[in-house]
Amino acid sequence: MLRRLSRWLGLTLFVLLAGCADHAPQDYLRPEGPIAREADHLFKALLYGAVIPLAVLVEGWLVVSVIRHRHRKGYAPRLRTPRPAKLWLIIVPTMALMVVDLFPLAKEAPINFALAREPEDALQVDVYGHLWWWEFVYPEADVSTANELHIPTGRPVRLTLRSIEPGLPAPEGAEFAQGVMHSFWVPKLAGKTDVVPGRANKMTIEADKPGTYLGQCAEYCNLSHANMRLAAVAHEPADFEAWLNAQRQPVAKPDTGPAAEGYKIFTGKGGCLACHTVVGIEGAEARVGPNLTHLKSRARFGGYVFDNTAENLRSWVDDPSAMKPMRPEDGTGMPDQGLSEEELDQIVAFLETLK
Ligand code: CUA
Repeated sequence: MLRRLSRWLGLTLFVLLAGCADHAPQDYLRPEGPIAREADHLFKALLYGAVIPLAVLVEGWLVVSVIRHRHRKGYAPRLRTPRPAKLWLIIVPTMALMVVDLFPLAKEAPINFALAREPEDALQVDVYGHLWWWEFVYPEADVSTANELHIPTGRPVRLTLRSIEPGLPAPEGAEFAQGVMHSFWVPKLAGKTDVVPGRANKMTIEADKPGTYLGQCAEYCNLSHANMRLAAVAHEPADFEAWLNAQRQPVAKPDTGPAAEGYKIFTGKGGCLACHTVVGIEGAEARVGPNLTHLKSRARFGGYVFDNTAENLRSWVDDPSAMKPMRPEDGTGMPDQGLSEEELDQIVAFLETLK
């Protein structure tokens, strides 16, 4: 009996411990900012205060009675709980739930409703969920980027989340077609917030220390949902300002060599201007695909999936849907532009100049 029990216990522990990892970039149990920490406090209070005691009590009771009555024949006798005990069994959990639910309504509540409040001195960033990548717009700085959300440390960042699909026909009176539902999630910095078509949802994130915090779309959004990742990149405030400044610079037109040829293809037969913004190139203002002005300043592309190397960029432009499932024929995702080998080399040479 004891041996069998210890075997089961060992197996359970093995499975549980298999979930432990030193390097778990999306481990929400290790919050690295005040917002995530507050949510974590509530989670741990509930886990240790309610879930574990209740599980031990109920499951323990069950196991003990199964063992004690294992030789009994027929149905188990009906358990008779005295009425006062029954009452307490209702009153205590109800009170506990009320504390958990109503406590956040208190004026100085540290959790829940505090998270929903508009923080003071927040950096405002507009987040747009596209099929299947993220657009981040810094309205005060007139900067936009893709898949990498850069933020300063020690300052709340207020996100306004929307879903748009500029590649699809817009309904009457609207600027863009509404996209589908996504969910913005950087586990170490904050909980999930849904990105809902036709709505502007808000959330706050904040990081204690500089670093790269990985995240992903957490609401199934069709074909490449799994390829809709992102990173929040936190900088010291001065470094963040420097990043913002660099992102504001327009691109320079290359004069000679393959990059100059690539520029011609980019602005001409490549058809790139129909979808991409590049500050400094006239007419390149579309938001169907990511803003490419400082493409090479990003570590990854394609929904933060591929390392930003010349080789990967070449494969991408050559046949995007082969790298990541998309449906360009339906207006979602980048189409294959049918460029020759030489043209591919030239366009990548130009893309490599977009530092
Ligand atoms: Cu966007 Cu899943």
